[in-house]
Order: sequence, then structure tokens, then C-alpha cells
Amino acid sequence: DIDIKVDELIKKMTLDEKIGQLNQYSGDNTVTGPITINPNKQNEIKSGQLGSMLNILGVKYTRQYQELAMQSRLKIPLLFGQDVVHGYKTTFPIPLAEAASWDLNAIELSARIAAVEASASGIHWTFAPMVDISRDPRWGRVMEGAGEDTYLGSKIAFARVKGFQGKKLGDVDAVMACAKHLVAYGAAVGGRDYNSVDMSYRMLWETYLPPFKSALDAGAATFMNSFNDLNGIPATGNSYLQRDILKGKWNFKGFVVSDWGSIGEMVAHGYSKDSKEAALQAITAGSDMDMESNAYRNNLAELVKENKVSIELIDDAVRRILYKKFELGLFDDPYKFSNPKRQKAALNNPEHTKIARDVASKSIVLLKNENNVLPLSKELKTIAFIGPMVKPKRINHGFWAVDLKDVDSTYIVSQWEGLERKVGKNTKLLYAKGCNIEGDDKSGFQEAIAVANKSDIVILSIGEAWNMSGEAKSKSNIHLPGVQEDLIKELQKTGKPIVILINAGRPLIFDWTADNMPTIVYTWWLGSEAGNAIADVLFGDYNPSGKLPMTFPRDEGQIPIYYNHFNTGRPSINDDKNYKSAYIDLSNSPKFPFGYGISYTTFQYSNLKLSSHKINSLEIIEVSLNVTNSGKYAGEEVVQLYLRDKVGSVVRPIKELKDFIKVHLNVGETKIIKFTIDKSKLSFYNDNLDYITEPGEFELMIGASSEDIRLKDNFELVE
Ligand code: IFM
Repeated sequence: DIDIKVDELIKKMTLDEKIGQLNQYSGDNTVTGPITINPNKQNEIKSGQLGSMLNILGVKYTRQYQELAMQSRLKIPLLFGQDVVHGYKTTFPIPLAEAASWDLNAIELSARIAAVEASASGIHWTFAPMVDISRDPRWGRVMEGAGEDTYLGSKIAFARVKGFQGKKLGDVDAVMACAKHLVAYGAAVGGRDYNSVDMSYRMLWETYLPPFKSALDAGAATFMNSFNDLNGIPATGNSYLQRDILKGKWNFKGFVVSDWGSIGEMVAHGYSKDSKEAALQAITAGSDMDMESNAYRNNLAELVKENKVSIELIDDAVRRILYKKFELGLFDDPYKFSNPKRQKAALNNPEHTKIARDVASKSIVLLKNENNVLPLSKELKTIAFIGPMVKPKRINHGFWAVDLKDVDSTYIVSQWEGLERKVGKNTKLLYAKGCNIEGDDKSGFQEAIAVANKSDIVILSIGEAWNMSGEAKSKSNIHLPGVQEDLIKELQKTGKPIVILINAGRPLIFDWTADNMPTIVYTWWLGSEAGNAIADVLFGDYNPSGKLPMTFPRDEGQIPIYYNHFNTGRPSINDDKNYKSAYIDLSNSPKFPFGYGISYTTFQYSNLKLSSHKINSLEIIEVSLNVTNSGKYAGEEVVQLYLRDKVGSVVRPIKELKDFIKVHLNVGETKIIKFTIDKSKLSFYNDNLDYITEPGEFELMIGASSEDIRLKDNFELVE
């Protein structure tokens, strides 16, 4: 049905109107809201020569622009896109933090609520989820993904797409998802944003492509290509990625948008001699929409006239975009997403706030609790809450928060407010900033020490500022910035128990703190409910259950560092450095491994059973084990299943996550956990890029992290 409508419409369109559909402009935001874009661009909308806009927020402004489009000859509605990455008005934890929850339902729900709010505010399309795998915490954009692991990343990609798109596109609360950035952007050399990527095609298929396939399987309506070149060809002009894989082998029917200016940037890459050649290369390679390069707008008509670009190629891209506009229902009602009452209700829904608090609590990772200082008692007499993160509000949002100009920030719960609301009347809270996040000013130390001396316990909230991780925020030094670690050292001298909260958008390096401080909580950037969620965890109203989705290095020199590496011919066992694959000045091991995170309670693993120890590739193994809550608090555990293919025609990682279950256990309770091993968990890409299984032995490991393996067994795959 839609196909017929699209074809009929295309028949009526002029070449300029078609090319217009392939163009996307950004709106300009100012403090008072988006200003009217320049009159020439307005005329382009009125004459039906613009397909989409980004950075126009709210029903008032989106309606204004849609009204311009409705003045055009064919009245083709505009699509409004936006980076709704972790919430819209209600901000959720940054995606890397949410990944630490390993809670797929919570992650889907967070995306759902983001979509409910954004769609009510005039947005049709989010440039999310970012599904780039990254093994390099120097890369600022790790905050935006699901971390280093392909299996976890694929599950999360699926959940996020489902959440954004809801039951079906066309529902008034669904926004189109955009799986980005195709592909390998997270492997930029040196962790430097926009940098080149050089990797084997086997690694590409095995590690970097699966989350994109998973997003597609979940129904992702759109994809965004990437700034980087891959093995010498910019992703934006890469036919292998967009035509052969995405639109070919994977049969993707939606459309691909370029990244901001990435078509034009092919000139700087040295791949295109000018913007015209870039346009030719990008459209040929399968980039359907041009975000802010003006390369299609300025060159496609001429390229068609010169017979360098066929009208069929243009029509294919236009068809993909129009199809989505029909599917969203914009031709039936271009103002479908422009209802002020719905906007007001969606942006002020207390249910959203409750869920944001819950997701934020689940994203917190307890790294150390050696003396069981946590959870804190609500009867404590005096608590010193110290640090540069305690009072500010915006900081909790992290990078990629949607900048709603007409919404004040009072609804964000600061960490101070969260604690204030939590403690009883008899508890006195004392505050000192201590120091700034950056710089070498120690003048606040004395006040912090004095405040600490007056209290029973110190909570110290430190980390990096919201704009130190994110796009174009790569860092060569990812140690705790400024004099924050010096402040810890001074406060340690007071002898008071100290709880350290680390707020960040990436794995930071804080070796001294990790070695010397017994109580450390990684709080990432948790969103608008950060203060409440942190207080919930500190006082045991939520027992932390997060597990790290990325390896935490000891030093930048170890990067890239990831748990699922190969063994090498000379593995360094127990830090043996004698002609082994090792650093002579540092251990190979991470500070905190992938999958790590502790709880206020303890879990025991026992009774591992495999239904069979020998299967062929059509058979399955049922795995079961018992997990018991052996401690004093109810809590959740993420039970992780890893496999190692012992010998292969290409070498295989020392372990790979192949399944996990997050389970809630009351005190003393035991649950039986079940997994299934089938062919999909045993397959890999061989040297010819065939996805195969090979007969041989596998090791099965069940653990509480990638290093804390509690139970093991072996099985064999036969022909
Ligand atoms: O969606 C983003 C992309 O991830 C990075 N460049 C800008 C785009 C639009 O804001």
C-alpha cells in the first residue's frame, strides 16, 4: 500500500524536489529558542526542496517549520530528527552507564520514555542508538555506547531500538531509531575522534558489525554512516558497507543518513577531489540523506544531467525516505506530533521520573566495599558531603543531554538534594566543595578537612565534568582530573571513613584511589534523578547490581584493553615478564575487569550441570547451575556465561561472553539458572569470512565477572 503511494508521489516530483528530500539542515538554537533559519533556507522548504531538519525542538517550532513545508506544491512533510541519546526532558543515565545495568528491560524502558517525550515534542526520529563497540576509553564517545563487548552490545542495541520505536512506527509515541555509526568508528586509531580505522575484515564482521545487525533485526528504521575511513575508504563513501552489506546481504529497506558534514569531509580525507565528486561517491555508495554538507543540494542535479548519477539511484534514495514519512503517518497528518497538550503531559509525567530513578540506581557499580561501610545507616549524626560534583545539577546529565531552552533545570536532582531528602531529621549534613574538577587550586582543601573532622563519615563526589567525555572529547590522559586525588589523600589523613563516588562518562584511571580507599562507587553520569539514585544506593534502599561494560585500565599505556583477547604464543601467566607478552613496567591485568561489580550481599554459585558433553551442530546443551544469596541483603546478580573455543582454524579469544541472566534473590534464596548452548554461540568467522562452526573442545565458564569465574566445564562439538 505504502509502496504504491510512494511510487505515485515520485512520479509527480521534479528532480529538484527529489534532491530536496535527500537534504537535511540543522536549525539554529539560541538561548530564547530556535531562531528562524535564513530566508533562503525557508524558501527551500516552501518550494519543497528540503526533506528533513535536526535541532528543532518542541511542538511550537516544529509546527512552524512544518507549516512552511505545507506551503509547498506537493506538501511533503519534513522529518524532524534529534540526538535523543539518553532521555529527552527526563534524562536517563548515559548509555554506557545504562549498559552497566545489564538490564535489558530497564534499557528498553528508558528508550521508550525518551521516545514518548520526544515524539510529544515534535520529534520523529532520534539519532540513536549508538551501537559502536569500543575498546578504547580515550575515545570520548564511549559514553554513548554499550561498551566493549559484542554480545552485550548487540542485546542492548536490540533493546534500545525496540524502546525507541515502540510497538510500531506510526504510533504517535514512536520515534524512528538510527543505528550509528556504520561502522568501526569506535576503533579510531589512538582513541582520537574522527580518526582512521584500519582493521581486518574478520574483526569487522566478528566484533564491530553484529550490534548493527541486531539493531536491524529489531527493526531499526534508519542507519547513520560514520566519519572515519575504514581501511582507506571513508565510511560515507563506502559501497561495501552500505550497498553490499546493509542494503544487500542484510536487505535493509530504510534509509541511511550521513553524519554531520561527512559527505563534504571526504574531500579532506583525500577521497574526493571536490564536493561534487563527494556527492557522486556518497550517493553511489548508498548514503541517502545528506546531513549538513550541501553536497547533494549543490551537485546532484548536475550529476544527473551529466549521466553520472542515474535517476533510478536518486529515486531509490527518495523512495526510502518517503516510505518512512508515510509509515510515520505524516502524510495523513503532518502535525501528528505537534499537540501542545500532549507535550505538556509527556514532559511532566511523574512516572517517567520514577523510572529514571530506578534505571539510574541499576546503573551504579559498586567497585569496593571492603569494610562494609556501605550501606550507610540513616541514623548517622553527621555526614560530610564533599566534592565538586555535590551541588551542581547540570553535571549529572552528562554529554548529549537535549538542551531544552525553555525548561529550567530545577527538576534535576543534585546529589546534595538527593542526600538531604534521604537522611532523617537527626542527621546533620555538612558541605565543602574541596576543589574544582580541573586545575591545581588546593585552597579549598582546608575547609574540606575541617568539615570532614566534624563528621562521622565523609562522602566524596569527584570525577570528570559533563563535557569531558562525548563527541570530540577524546583524551590522552584519562586519570582523575585536577587535584581530586590529592584531596582524597588529604581527607584520608583525617582517619574518617570515606565513601568515594566517581562520576564520569568513561572508565577513568584512579590507581592510587583504587589501591588505598576501601569504599568506591562508580556513578557515571546518571541523569536527572542522579541525586535520588545515589542516595538510594548509599543507604541500601537499592542494593547495587551494576557490572562494568568496559575494562578499566591501570594506565593509558595498556589501551586498547579488553577481556576477550587472544592468548598469544607467549601468554604472561601471573605477571611473568620473562620473554612473555607483557609490559616490563606494568601488569597486563586491568584495574577492574569487564563484567565486574559487587553487591552488599554475596552470591554463591554451585551445581553446574550440562545436559550433554558432546553435541553436533544441530543439537543443544542445556546448562544449569544454582545461585544462592549467601549474604545479608536481598539483591540482584548478573550471572555471566563465557565460552572458549580451544583450537580453531583461526585463533579464538581466551573467553567470550555468550549469555547472561540478571536474577533477583532474597536473603538465603537459591535459584536455578538455565542457559542453552546452540550453534549460534559456537560459530565464528573463518579466514574466508564464512560464518562457521568447527568440531573441537570448548571450555564453558560461569562467572560473576570476566575474571571471577566460579564454575567450569568442557564439552565437545562433533561433526
Ligand atoms: O547524531 C550526531 C552524530 O552522532 C555525530 N555528529 C552529529 C550528529 C547530529 O547531531
